[in-house]
Amino acid sequence: MKKVLLLTLALVMLVCVSAASADVVIAFSQIGQESDWRTANTDDLRNAIENHEGWKLVYDDAQQKQENQIKALRNFITQGVDYILFTGVVSTGWDEVLKEVNEAEIPLLLIDRIPDCADKIDYVAAFGGDFVEEGRRQIAWAGEYLKSIGKGDVDVNIVIMEGTTGASAQTGRTEGNLKALAEYPHLKLVGQQSGNFTRAEGQAVMESWLKSIDKIDVLIAQNDDMALGAIDAIKAAGKVPGKDIIIVGCDSVKAAFDAIVAGEMNCTVECTPLYGKFVVPTIEALIRGEKFDKTVVHPEEGVFDMDGGIDLGTVKSIKAADVIATRQY
Ligand code: AHR
Repeated sequence: MKKVLLLTLALVMLVCVSAASADVVIAFSQIGQESDWRTANTDDLRNAIENHEGWKLVYDDAQQKQENQIKALRNFITQGVDYILFTGVVSTGWDEVLKEVNEAEIPLLLIDRIPDCADKIDYVAAFGGDFVEEGRRQIAWAGEYLKSIGKGDVDVNIVIMEGTTGASAQTGRTEGNLKALAEYPHLKLVGQQSGNFTRAEGQAVMESWLKSIDKIDVLIAQNDDMALGAIDAIKAAGKVPGKDIIIVGCDSVKAAFDAIVAGEMNCTVECTPLYGKFVVPTIEALIRGEKFDKTVVHPEEGVFDMDGGIDLGTVKSIKAADVIATRQY
């Protein structure tokens, strides 16, 4: 009898110890690694989760393919992970698989790009860029900057290099770009094409524009990687980036700061990739049983340029050289 009691006690203790030390498994379906922004986003979330005691990351890089993301989400369900972090390469086509996540009762956190079906599915928290506002800021910066140098009434030719077609970062920024253009009738849109958020495609699109468009005064690139690729194309064509062509990027990655300080780029509108500081306290709170509503939290973001002081209504630009040392990505 005594033996049985001791054995039962040992078994109970074993169950308790393993339950206490069981990892919280957080799975992350990442789009791919198309840009410096994406690398910074992956590193930030990886560090935040892996450095947290008792948390384990299951990471999947979908190589820019929606079918790979769908497969990864289904694998996460099969593995029975505790939480899923999700950002989608495009904004549509997620209804079915995200409903499967809901049916498996795995808490879903949306980050960066919020899918179109967000109002039809359950998610426990959402953090994403305000892409329409970022697009508005890009055009407003160009328009206000031109006014500040006495060119507010001069017709200028502008091209818009868009991100991955169908990504919410592309549709939102394009919406913001085009709406804001209506406020600046002297900015004449002469080119609009996707550079797929990559440096290589940004360079190729700019090369072809420089051959086919007579005069380009302003380039709006929906991310910094495409702007940096375009800078290479502009230099190769014998023009001076930042002077012959005004260049406005988006993201505010370190390489864009360097280009602005070097005088080869004019402005970058911030889109932060640093979601670890939102995700960690949220999962801690969810573990404690707290709940959040479905509001999408937009991080506070700035606009950085050569001289600072351009008033964009919601924000004033900051001189890049003054803050470059404090940048984290
Ligand atoms: O969704 C955020 C966007 O995706 C960033 O602007 C871009 O660089 C990335 O690829």
